[in-house]
Order: sequence, then structure tokens, then C-alpha cells
Amino acid sequence: MQIFGVDIGGSGIKGAPVDLDQGVLAQERHKVLTPHPATPDAVADGVKEVVDHFGWTGPVGITFPGVVTGGSTVRTAANVDKGWVDTDARALLSERLGGLPVTVLNDADAAGVAEMQFGQGRDRQGTVLLLTFGTGIGSALFSDGVLVPNTELGHLELHGHDAEKRASTKVKEDQDLSWEDWAHRVQKYLAHLEMLFSPDLFIIGGGVSRKAHKFLPLIQGIKAEMVPAALQNNAGIVGAAMRAAKAAQAL
Ligand code: BGC
Repeated sequence: MQIFGVDIGGSGIKGAPVDLDQGVLAQERHKVLTPHPATPDAVADGVKEVVDHFGWTGPVGITFPGVVTGGSTVRTAANVDKGWVDTDARALLSERLGGLPVTVLNDADAAGVAEMQFGQGRDRQGTVLLLTFGTGIGSALFSDGVLVPNTELGHLELHGHDAEKRASTKVKEDQDLSWEDWAHRVQKYLAHLEMLFSPDLFIIGGGVSRKAHKFLPLIQGIKAEMVPAALQNNAGIVGAAMRAAKAAQAL
């Protein structure tokens, strides 16, 4: 079965039909730049452009980089326009897509759901914590395969700062940090998470997971296993489509 997945990120809005039997993109993904300011209206236009590119007319799963409750309502917007807060994103996006059934969930939760089914979290019991490093830091926490949604661990306070303001890949780029310096910050962040959650496995996701060989070996002293996400930057698209398929089956 194929369902469409869209990942709304701080820099790009990406989407593709997803092959849900294999957990892979069925066609090459299409990307448009995230508008600035990333208002609900402007982002909805971007989502429409991505979906229309494929002439898609079925259910669509969409990730959002903030807290999303009930598959529809946005509660926080750290890295997009604050106009999103309390927006019924499902209603807005479905209306913009000409009434297609839409499901919305947090971006890191989507990535986590995909990794647990098709990637590094497959058949993993215990506590698994997936982190996405990008414009912000997203988190998805699983206990014996069950997601605790909207955990927002990128906003833990670390040395008096919001953790994502110290250790996201955007910060690495903005401050031109070396891999060593950035890995040192990530190590401190992971050590803090380990103290709080004692996970069995950390899955490191986001675009930077492609370059895991450059920084994972530099991270020392973490007891949990640490692996790069297998689906890399497509995990959000796949997880969004999985959630939309689940919602469609429930109808
Ligand atoms: C948001 C999270 C999101 C993460 C990654 C954070 O700033 O609060 O909800 O998952 O960025 O996009």
C-alpha cells in the first residue's frame, strides 16, 4: 500500500508517496523551501505544492516541528511562526489540499515511529530514545515499542541554556563549530538524557545522521548503545505516512 507523507522542517518541506510494506519512498521526494516567516498559510501553500507535484489524491500524513495533540492541533512552534500555536493544522491543511484526509503529528515522533518499524528500533524492547538533530532537536521516546508522544527533550535546560540552542546542527553551522566541539556538546546532552531516562538505545536521526561516522566515534562515556538512524532524513516522511494509514484504517 502507498500513502503520502510530508515532513515540514525548518529549512524544507519534503514529501513523497511511501511504500508502507517496505518503509521506503515509492518515488523520489520533492522539496520546496520552507517560507520565512513560516506562517500557517505560507507553509500550507508549500505542502500543497509538494502534494500537487505528484498529483496525489489519497490520505496524507504530515509532520510538524512542534507539539501536536489529537492528530490535529499545534501547541508549540519553537522554530516556525508563532501563528501556528493553537491552529487546527489538520483542518487547515486538509482544506488547502482540497479536502484530502490529513493526519498531523510531531516530526520527531514520526521519525521515531518509522525507525521502530523499519529501522534501528525494529524488535527493540526496553527504553529507546530517538533524537533528531536539525534546526532544533526533536525527541521520540519508546517504552517496549510504545511511543510516549510529544516529549520535547530538545528543550531540556543544559548549563542554563535550552539544549537545542547549544547542540542542534543549526547551531553547529551558525557558530561554525568543528565536529569535535559539536560532538562534545552532544555528549553532554546525551549524558544528561542518560541520567534522566537510562535508555537502552539512542538513535541519532536528522540530516546529520548521514555523517554519523564523523561525530559518533567522538562521543565518549555513554553507556547506552548509540546508532545512526537507518532511514536518515526520510524517517519523518515514512512515519507521517504510517500514521495517516493507521488513521485511514480506523475510519
Ligand atoms: C520542537 C520539537 C521538534 C524539534 C525538531 C523543537 O524545537 O519544539 O517539537 O520536534 O524542534 O524539529
